[in-house]
Amino acid sequence: MVSYSRMHNRAHDLIALEREHGAHNYAPLEIVVSRAEGVWLWDVEGRRYLDCVSAYSALSHGHVHPRIRAALVEQSQRLSLTSRAMYNDQLPLFLERLTSLTGYDEALPMNSGVEAVESALKLARRWGYEVKGIPANTAEIIVFANNFHGRTIAAISASSTAQYRKDFGPFLPGFVFVPFGDAAALERAITPLTCAVVMEPIQGEGGVIVPPDGYISAASALCRERDVLFIADEVQTGLGRTGNLFACDHERVHADILVVGKALGGGFYPVSAILSRRELMGLFRAGDHGSTFGGNPLACAIARTALDVLVEERLPERARRAGEHLFASLRSMTSRHVKEVRGRGLLIGVELDVPARALSEALLARGIVAKDTHENVLRIAPPLVIDDAPLQMIADGMRDALHALETSTD
Ligand SMILES: Cc1ncc(COP(=O)(O)O)c(C=O)c1O
Repeated sequence: MVSYSRMHNRAHDLIALEREHGAHNYAPLEIVVSRAEGVWLWDVEGRRYLDCVSAYSALSHGHVHPRIRAALVEQSQRLSLTSRAMYNDQLPLFLERLTSLTGYDEALPMNSGVEAVESALKLARRWGYEVKGIPANTAEIIVFANNFHGRTIAAISASSTAQYRKDFGPFLPGFVFVPFGDAAALERAITPLTCAVVMEPIQGEGGVIVPPDGYISAASALCRERDVLFIADEVQTGLGRTGNLFACDHERVHADILVVGKALGGGFYPVSAILSRRELMGLFRAGDHGSTFGGNPLACAIARTALDVLVEERLPERARRAGEHLFASLRSMTSRHVKEVRGRGLLIGVELDVPARALSEALLARGIVAKDTHENVLRIAPPLVIDDAPLQMIADGMRDALHALETSTD
């Protein structure tokens, strides 16, 4: 007789089990991962793959980083959860580390990225009424076409993507849409009712869209002149991914509210936060906003160690160097299907003139996991700890897979 676990320890059984009992709100690649380390994944049959998805930047430190794992294990044996009804001995240390590293006065911890985005939207509206003097319930927040800020009702109300919104209305009022990358359009959209502009400095989910040079600083200067808060959503681009601590740093922009998530959890745990100056964050008073799990001691111990590792292992600098290397290889590839290679650091998008899913599957057959986003774009975003040999594997794999794509579409 075959034991239950052995019987199910095969990819297709597990996929079937998931399909039977889980909602079908994703279309994953056909790989069932059971183990990972650094930049590598192993499937249930023991095959090894290079991870170029990195859980959409949440795995910047690589899988199962030994120091972060040790912090998790140690903390989990002492204290995991208190709620914010009492103080704990980890939250202060995490807050101190996060604010000193980023140059902000105060942080408000949450769990998922979208909860931090929600926190930023609430803080901006409150500032609009209490400080700017916008009449009650009329505040407007400017967002960009093609953005991605998550999946809650607020985030999809702020989205221009039809699929994310379809049949989920009614939507929250108060969002004003402008094209991304057009400073004049942004200027025209600002009114006396505008409390904030929310920007991803590079649109990740939207297909790795990099705005023109100088755009982020122009938008932030415009916000300052017109008494509007500049909110940077760096959930995906932050903490080293683009070759600087934050993507806004490339243009020396210090946002009024900075939203961080994903890599803050070191690849182990959902940890997010907003950061701001004291007067602004002070507009949240006791009881106004919160989360049962936000700022829990386990999350704080993990995130503080993740920040230490990021600094000590120089992850932003490594992302910059590896990104330059990979860019050079990818740009040198001549394929009639490649329209553009773009991005910054280790957030790279390869735009094709055909759906990118076929390229993603061709890479998978070559031991590389990279996923399509927005139909025609393949996103390549490996952990920032990647070194030369796996970088070369991506370049070779892409050359091969593009060649296979050309022959299949001939
Ligand atoms: C820029 C940005 N903001 C917010 C989010 C939402 O984060 P989460 O999925 O952790 O809620 C994402 C997720 O991809 C993101 O890329």
